[in-house]
Amino acid sequence: MTCEPKKEIPVGLAPMAGFTDMIFRLMCAEGGADFCVTEMVSAAALCYRDGKTPALAERRRGEAPCAVQIFGHDPAQMAEAAEIVLDEICPSDGVGTPPAAIEINMGCPVKKIVKGGDGSALMREPVLASKIVRAVSDATAARGVPLWVKIRAGWDKNSVNAPEFAAALADAGATRITVHGRTRDQMYAPSSDNGVIRRVREALDPSVEVFGNGDVTSGEDAARMIKETGCDGVLVGRAALGDPWIFGEIKDFLSGGDCEVRRPTKEDRIGAALRLLHELCEEKGEGVGVRESRARVGHLIRGIRGSAAARWAVNRAVTEEEFEKILTDLLDQTGKGREE
Ligand SMILES: Cc1cc2nc3c(=O)[nH]c(=O)nc-3n(C[C@H](O)[C@H](O)[C@H](O)COP(=O)(O)O)c2cc1C
Repeated sequence: MTCEPKKEIPVGLAPMAGFTDMIFRLMCAEGGADFCVTEMVSAAALCYRDGKTPALAERRRGEAPCAVQIFGHDPAQMAEAAEIVLDEICPSDGVGTPPAAIEINMGCPVKKIVKGGDGSALMREPVLASKIVRAVSDATAARGVPLWVKIRAGWDKNSVNAPEFAAALADAGATRITVHGRTRDQMYAPSSDNGVIRRVREALDPSVEVFGNGDVTSGEDAARMIKETGCDGVLVGRAALGDPWIFGEIKDFLSGGDCEVRRPTKEDRIGAALRLLHELCEEKGEGVGVRESRARVGHLIRGIRGSAAARWAVNRAVTEEEFEKILTDLLDQTGKGREE
């Protein structure tokens, strides 16, 4: 495949609960991400003043422009949550300016979320979904902040309604629709459908942005998505978990750079893993920091010779020091173990 298209297309980090916190978003910004989205934040928890929730919506200086994603199903509560983010959290976080957008989650497929009528359950409730967007857009428009909505193709293969659903949300005030080209029933397999993203792009006025998401793991994937859908931007999810540098590679490819794929080195990966471990321990304390680092470090070191044994070991590490030693030993290992 050639390096086309050459038009500047934003490439951002998709929201991922448990992963896209401030620490990881900063790494992705350094790796070339044009924008990021926070983990999903419960509107109910914000409104009930749960003490730990506001931290999920905070940003850090140096991050790429970042949208704050909220989930819920009650229009008034969603609007209040957006106001809390914009009026209370953002003025006092490390950035102090409004986020790039408020994003509403209408795509999460997880049972616990859809059972409560949230996430992708809203794709079966288009009237309610439009009411939510209208209520939140009153809050965001009054503060000059864009309103994004993230959706799926539909609920299941018999109800693929993304184009008309997105059109109704745009009428209600959404300024960007991000489409993950799978239904709720598909969860994360089989592969994402670019056709539905194209149909959403065709259904909306050009003034409303349509961003594509699903299975982008390289510059070629991103170029294919843009070519097949006409989307205005691309989001990368799982492929960034082990490779926060992927954004720079994709953008290089899209801008017709040298098209050489620059893979991060073992030192880059283990350096990022150590940084994540130390920052999580500093922010959350050693116990939580070590526990939360396990899966996340697992993604970053995957593929390095000896990483299977290291992943096994970090799952049993209790202290930050033990964890660090496993990673530095992996760095010192040369040629031992299989490539994984
Ligand atoms: C662990 C994990 C957590 C996720 N959390 C969220 C979330 O909080 N909000 C959301 O809209 N999507 C969430 N998603 C979906 C992703 O944003 C994205 O739509 C999906 O992974 C498809 O993109 P990909 O193929 O590039 O990974 C999550 C996905 C994963 C794997």
